[in-house]
Amino acid sequence: MTRHLLKDSDLTAEEKREILQLALKMKKNPDKYREALKGKTLIMYFEKTSTRTRLSFEAGMTRLGGHGIFLDKRTSQVGISELKDEIRAIERYADIMMARTRKHATLKEMAENMKIPLINGCCERYHPCQGLGDALTMIEHGGDLKGKKIVWLGIANNVSNSLVQTCTQLGAKVTLCIPEKDPGAVDKDMEDEARKNGLYAETQDMSCLKDADFVHTDTWVNMEFINDPKFADEKERRIKAFMPYQLNKALLDKHGSKAKIMHCMPCHVGYEISRDAIDHPNSLIFDQAENRMHIQNAIMVWLLQNS
Ligand code: CP
Repeated sequence: MTRHLLKDSDLTAEEKREILQLALKMKKNPDKYREALKGKTLIMYFEKTSTRTRLSFEAGMTRLGGHGIFLDKRTSQVGISELKDEIRAIERYADIMMARTRKHATLKEMAENMKIPLINGCCERYHPCQGLGDALTMIEHGGDLKGKKIVWLGIANNVSNSLVQTCTQLGAKVTLCIPEKDPGAVDKDMEDEARKNGLYAETQDMSCLKDADFVHTDTWVNMEFINDPKFADEKERRIKAFMPYQLNKALLDKHGSKAKIMHCMPCHVGYEISRDAIDHPNSLIFDQAENRMHIQNAIMVWLLQNS
């Protein structure tokens, strides 16, 4: 059976632990894995812009002896022909595929029509590679996630969904300190599942920062709307509503927080995060970016071994 990673619940807690252990081993001993994907081809399909996802997957394939090919919706035939036919052709050239799409439904349609593993490179609902990569970074900087306290500051979105699902599965408590949720990202089933084990909470009380081990944030406005004139009023409204939730040094100091600072990037300096938080001694932001590659390398090896 072909294994895909379209959403975080596609992997059990045990499988996530296996992938995290593999990522740690691969990162520690790169020479041992130089030919792990020798002769394999990854197609990287994008409907939206990216820095980290594109570079980390392509650099990851180079590191493992394989090859990554970039395919953009705007400069290919994928948006013109029927998706299922394009996918049935694309898979003839590749061993594994990653796709960043606007809609989760597009990923589901792709997976239904392909026999090679498909990895979600971020859609409106989930960003599973980010959730697992962030788990890897937190484990490296704090040990086992069991019993750790993680605060998400700002807007609940696709990245926080993946963080909640993966980290509560691994035993961490995740508190969303948020005034509102991105309507396009809300997943009630995921929230109910996370609530069952008592490791998920929502609040507007910033005192949750006091004993947090890690604090995360992300953009208040989805990247495809950030410069869209039609979204200008909503962007202004969100900036007013979310500014009290900006991740900055003064806020952490006010609550006596020693939390390690995390942001999946791109950062919007002066909005969801301040310069003094990005450059803070507790900042793990650039380790986070690097770990996208290490976790994705492990995900690709694991999916190919288990399909
Ligand atoms: N965090 C993340 O996915 O970055 P990019 O949008 O640059 O790929």
